[in-house]
Amino acid sequence: MAKDTRSRGGDETNGAERRSNVSALRRSEPVIRSRSTAQEKPLFNAIGFDKHSLSSAINKYRVIAKTVGVRDPFFRTHDARSGATTIMDGREVTNFASYDYLGLNQAPSVGEAAKAAIDQYGTSVSASRLVAGERGLHQELERELADFYEAEAALTFVSGHATNVATIGVLMTSDDLVVHDDYVHNSALVGIQLSGAAKRSFPHNDYDALERILAESRGQYKNALLVVEGLYSMDGDFPDLPRLIALKEKYGLWLMVDEAHSLGVLGNTGRGLFEHYDVDPRHVDIWMGTLSKTLGACGGYIAGSHALIQILKFKAPGFVYSVGLSAPLAAASLEALRLLKAEPERVARLQENGQRFLKEAKAIGLDTLGSAGYSVVPVMVGDGLKAVRLTERLLERGVNALPIIYPAVPLKAARIRFFITSEHTEEQICQTVLIVKYELDRLNRSLLKIVDSAITRFSRE
Ligand SMILES: Cc1ncc(COP(=O)(O)O)c(C=O)c1O
Repeated sequence: MAKDTRSRGGDETNGAERRSNVSALRRSEPVIRSRSTAQEKPLFNAIGFDKHSLSSAINKYRVIAKTVGVRDPFFRTHDARSGATTIMDGREVTNFASYDYLGLNQAPSVGEAAKAAIDQYGTSVSASRLVAGERGLHQELERELADFYEAEAALTFVSGHATNVATIGVLMTSDDLVVHDDYVHNSALVGIQLSGAAKRSFPHNDYDALERILAESRGQYKNALLVVEGLYSMDGDFPDLPRLIALKEKYGLWLMVDEAHSLGVLGNTGRGLFEHYDVDPRHVDIWMGTLSKTLGACGGYIAGSHALIQILKFKAPGFVYSVGLSAPLAAASLEALRLLKAEPERVARLQENGQRFLKEAKAIGLDTLGSAGYSVVPVMVGDGLKAVRLTERLLERGVNALPIIYPAVPLKAARIRFFITSEHTEEQICQTVLIVKYELDRLNRSLLKIVDSAITRFSRE
């Protein structure tokens, strides 16, 4: 039998040579493999990504933070399931930075459902559902989501962000209009941009302004979509659903409500915005939500009519050209949805905690903007750097809560955002509010204001 030496590289000397060549290659500049390409004079030069305008913007913030001696509060590592508490740098801290509003990410049966799904189906469904990725769990979850909204059908996607992008992006066209609240999530804005539809925004929760836009513009477009959130993730307030439904009917709009932060949060049994107002959910054309928050998993969903879901199933790029939701995530979401329905006491505890946080914070003089005291309570700080510094001090005192700074909110509207869960204790909430007040007052008294004005000057240069 002929001996195949092609992949063996001959004797030891050759092997050693080859290894040293390989490591030299790894160390050196990229190698141009084709001689003809190397000889051609480039017509244009691509800049390195370190010269990209986005890199400069990020680096500028880093330099400012370093100059004033604050640590980057983002991308910090957690070493535990983060809920009402978490472990950071080996230390247990009280946590207000988790979307696990009903503690379902901690529920044993949710984890067990995910493990059983892995045993049966593996960790990935390995293909788009259209071609080879459909599992019974997808249909079960979608049936229960549809029932939850009394809708005809539902569809799940692998990410909440992709759900908004794909849905708005495919439904609307350049003949259409999308009107949205100023505070809607980036995913809706990206979807609108992708669709090519005309875009008009109205000031947050200002329905007179919304009606002026509709009166003026609706007639110029074929279809029109109105996009709002069930509970706004930056301010913690929510829209007037009955008023929106009246406007939708008057002006012939499709109404889309993003329930990312209101599922499991609003309404006596956590069914969301429609239950809060005791409104028939079928008045809303497109219910959107995420599996990543109350449902403790990852992914997004749309619930609505059969016709809507059929369009998404066959035409939405983020569904058609993307892998199906993995079985463990589908199973975890399904079990979490069942627990949400079976244990409304979780919702009651969350609502009590949200109200407690809000009441204590207001009583002590903290500015909580328009928060209604449910899952999200912001504490206004103003300056971005001050918010970052406050975060750092809170962590030193055993509280993890993150700053929201420009561009997520306007330049001088930085805040610390507290996500409240059903699992926080009264003591954790009351102590945290006191710590926030104490540390914020300390910062306000400190020399930071002077440093800030120097930095503002520096960042303009
Ligand atoms: C209102 C809203 N919609 C959509 C999303 C995207 O969801 P996901 O993080 O599950 O992709 C978020 C994420 O935070 C959100 O706040």
